[in-house]
Amino acid sequence: MAIIIDGKNLAKNIRQDLKLEADKLKERGIIPHLAVIMVGDNDASKVYVRNKSRACEEIGIEFKEYILPSTTKQKELLELINNLNNDRKVNGILLQSPIPKPLKIQEAFNSISPEKDVDGFNPQNVGNLCIGQDGFIPCTPLGIVIMLEKYNIKIDGEKVAIIGRSNIVGKPMAQCMLSKNATVTICHSRTKELKKELKDADIIISAAGKRNMVTADMVKDGVVIIDVGMNRNDEGKLCGDVDFENVKEKASYITPVPGGVGPMTIAMLMSNVIKAAKKQNK
Ligand code: GUN
Repeated sequence: MAIIIDGKNLAKNIRQDLKLEADKLKERGIIPHLAVIMVGDNDASKVYVRNKSRACEEIGIEFKEYILPSTTKQKELLELINNLNNDRKVNGILLQSPIPKPLKIQEAFNSISPEKDVDGFNPQNVGNLCIGQDGFIPCTPLGIVIMLEKYNIKIDGEKVAIIGRSNIVGKPMAQCMLSKNATVTICHSRTKELKKELKDADIIISAAGKRNMVTADMVKDGVVIIDVGMNRNDEGKLCGDVDFENVKEKASYITPVPGGVGPMTIAMLMSNVIKAAKKQNK
């Protein structure tokens, strides 16, 4: 029976530490400030953004939301980003993904100033992560690294299998694990034999977005399971990619959904905003 990794409590402790840092900045007259842009109407995004705003409020980060209609033109989106880049009060800019189809999201990420890119999606930050230079690391992978470290889970030399190759999770996750000296396998929709790739892994990180993607027969005894999935089951309840009830009997550690990766992602966003505010006010 696995140890259940308590991301919720870990994130709470991190937010408490960040509040102390925000208080110190305030003594210097600096109020950390996050600008969040949402385009169109996406119910999941609304929930994510509300959670981000609550965390900001708790820590003492000024939160400003820019809600644009789904008819927004690329030029208008880029203009808003440019204005926020030039606004000295704004320390961090986050463009909530997804945005409506005709808009080009990567072009928008590219236009966010690297110093304010608290999501770490600007090519300069992507590159910095690849070559091991300081920059902003995407929040979900960063939260997972911290979670593994807090639980003293060995990464160095271990076999890590990642399911999913997105720019938001899979790819930066692989870079993070590589920088910690893991042997990394990235699995995706074209992977021929997923079970074969997973069976050998010491750590499995699933960001597939598909219920029951990882079942007990696919993993070895003692595996560490990190579940990034945010899916709904037949009763409409939030669930991950992993068959939690059965896999937890074989794993040594496992993250629940909810209460695992999700709260850590938000805590890392807060951490990146504080880091941005500090760097911009050196
Ligand atoms: N949509 C889902 N996850 C994320 C995230 O981490 N950042 C942004 N900007 N959008 C998302």
